[in-house]
Amino acid sequence: MICRLTREKLFGILFEGLPIGCFLVNKKFEIIAFNKSAETLTGWKKEEVMGKPCSEVINSNLCHQFCPLKEGAHTKKKFIAREEIIKDRFGEEIPVCYSSSAVFDENGNFEAGIEIFRERGGDERLQTLRNHIISIFAHDIKTPCSVTGALINRILSGKAGPITDQQREYLEFIIKENKQVELLINNLLELLHIERGGSPAEKSPTDIHCFIKDMVGEMRPKAEANGINIAYDIDKRINRPVLIDKIQMKRVLQNLIDNAIKYSRKGGTIHVKAEIQNNWLILKVRDEGIGIPKDDLPHIFEYFFRAKNSPKKAEGTGLGLASARAIVESSGGRIWAKSKEGVGTTFFIRLPIELDS
Ligand SMILES: Nc1ncnc2c1ncn2[C@@H]1O[C@H](COP(=O)(O)OP(=O)(O)OP(=O)(O)O)[C@@H](O)[C@H]1O
Ligand SMILES: [Mg+2]
Repeated sequence: MICRLTREKLFGILFEGLPIGCFLVNKKFEIIAFNKSAETLTGWKKEEVMGKPCSEVINSNLCHQFCPLKEGAHTKKKFIAREEIIKDRFGEEIPVCYSSSAVFDENGNFEAGIEIFRERGGDERLQTLRNHIISIFAHDIKTPCSVTGALINRILSGKAGPITDQQREYLEFIIKENKQVELLINNLLELLHIERGGSPAEKSPTDIHCFIKDMVGEMRPKAEANGINIAYDIDKRINRPVLIDKIQMKRVLQNLIDNAIKYSRKGGTIHVKAEIQNNWLILKVRDEGIGIPKDDLPHIFEYFFRAKNSPKKAEGTGLGLASARAIVESSGGRIWAKSKEGVGTTFFIRLPIELDS
């Protein structure tokens, strides 16, 4: 009995803690278990999907014609692993890799099905290796960079003897470039830190109305200096404080609004919106800017990626969206974008809503 309990408990912990989506169905293909990662990926809450046919929840093209669970039940194949596009509860398409397993009773009758799935992305082992190399590189370059900066400042202050105006001009230019490199290194190190789970979200009750209003107020001078308007709109149903990591979420929105300004044309408007949809807090930043080419859209959250239509004068390191994604995902949320070149871009953030009681 003790052993059985321990096993069940262990299964529960493993199932809930899995970093990939997982659900179980009974022999009628109705959902009987749905883990946290599946909630994050699909936007459905466990309470809403229990007892529902899995095809209504996963909603992929395969569900109705070539359901892998039904195929497994029929062919008695132990595993079926494929790639597919599923739709989340809001109709957004998500490319996933999945593996389905059919479970049979002692008489060989189909008894239950298990499906695990995760969003398709780059090879994780390669990503880990890449992050490791970047982190060594960033650490090693940080010290020479700050030493050089300090020495140049010393020369500029005249402590190493008099300098000519021309030399001052060059040194000031070097200092400016050096600061850019330092900024890049610090951003990189911070991003790697978040990706490694080093800064767990510190959530506090936040009045979303004030939060967005302040955010927009802070960004408005920069937008106006570029001839761009910012408007915001907050769902009236958000009438109680919501638990979010204010500092981190501010960084994310700053990044998105900063991009919207950078990649907009004069006279354009940026719309920031907060709304509640079925227990999720949805934040949207929409612009009427240059848009992102279709081929580039799947890559914008990658390190150092800059779209091919990115104007030369728009300065940037290509790290803003990578950190935005790392922060949002560490809060149990998702971030994605829709865009049309020449028309505009909308970024969406979906966060699990936790109201302050
Ligand atoms: N709102 C937008 N409109 C059009 N293109 C965008 C928009 N947001 C991002 N992009 C494209 O995605 C790329 C990556 O964005 P990201 O914020 O990561 O980097 P960045 O803005 O170039 O630099 P930084 O590190 O300073 O943020 C941008 O270079 C740009 O090509
Ligand atoms: Mg940016």
